[in-house]
Amino acid sequence: MWKAAIEDALVKIKDNTKRFGDHFPHVSFNGKYDLNPNEDWTNGFWSGMLWLGYEYSGDEAYRETARRTVQSFKRRMESHRVLDHHDIGFLYTLSSQAQWMVERDEEARELTLQAADVLMRRWRPNGQYLQAWGLPEDPQHGGRMIIDCLMNLPLLFWASQQTGDERYREAAIKQANQSRRYLVRGDDSSYHTFVFDVETGEAMGGATHQGYTNGSTWSRGQAWGVYGFALAYRYTGNPLYLDTAKRMATYFIRHLPEDHVAYWDFDVPMEKDTYRDSSASAIFAAGMVELISHLDAGDQDRAEFEEKLRLTLESLVCHYSTIGEQDAEGLLKHGAYYVRGNTAPDDFMIWGDYFYLEVLMRMDRGIKGYWYE
Ligand code: GLY
Repeated sequence: MWKAAIEDALVKIKDNTKRFGDHFPHVSFNGKYDLNPNEDWTNGFWSGMLWLGYEYSGDEAYRETARRTVQSFKRRMESHRVLDHHDIGFLYTLSSQAQWMVERDEEARELTLQAADVLMRRWRPNGQYLQAWGLPEDPQHGGRMIIDCLMNLPLLFWASQQTGDERYREAAIKQANQSRRYLVRGDDSSYHTFVFDVETGEAMGGATHQGYTNGSTWSRGQAWGVYGFALAYRYTGNPLYLDTAKRMATYFIRHLPEDHVAYWDFDVPMEKDTYRDSSASAIFAAGMVELISHLDAGDQDRAEFEEKLRLTLESLVCHYSTIGEQDAEGLLKHGAYYVRGNTAPDDFMIWGDYFYLEVLMRMDRGIKGYWYE
């Protein structure tokens, strides 16, 4: 089943290279991807899909397009265009770092190291965290850390490995520790963001941005946490991170509906037209493969995790994918970007497509994506 899903996806990706040209897909509206000239937080996912396509098929067409995207990321870096946010890892891990990993291109390695430096500028020593968006004085976002940022820490861990400079790794570890302390709640659910006093660094409280309420659990945030902590464990061997990833995964599983694909928030009233977020479940599935890879055969959670991973992925492939819909631009239907803001509450999300492809390729062929070497 995984192979058929991958083959179907690869055809769509190739069709999209013609549709998109040198632009990048973000989310779709009524099934048509909104394109931009590389100025959103999501642009690395398209690049990552092209590198995956090349690795799986060996087809030079994917490689050529992927390399062009990296050139675009180089220009973005040179002009420092829309880089004042924490998603630098999503942008450069899946584009230039992927190129380095696939073909050992020195220029791509250098570009990725520059990206790590850009991310380091977000370090706020007062509260010991990486600020999610904007500058420190930003009235709305100054002092805010975010759970999604766990997926940007691999860039910092990788930069330390490459350079021997421990500063990147230390920042990543501190951010992971602060995320455990402030973003993960005692019942293993999570806040989307947490706010610190900009001047004093004092911890103020949890708050949402895309979730239902400040106290609810935004399902995509929980999924970022599962995958992010599993990766933090890979890089550090700290068992606390593995334990946190497991606990967050169990919470995610316990709050799934019958078809094993998450609603957009675990606390939103569930009515017949409540939106799903298939992208949260795609991230969760990819994170579960990483998490399970760290568990011993005798681990008490392993069998359940494997079962839930299979059920999630089967549901995504059978009920949420566009398999057989030849003209579809996206791979995974029913993602939710920002429900309260009424922005793409039920459409394709390019990160949903990326993680869906990543997990399928890892399951089918052991092609694991670009979060670590
Ligand atoms: N990182 C932003 C989002 O998941 O929507």
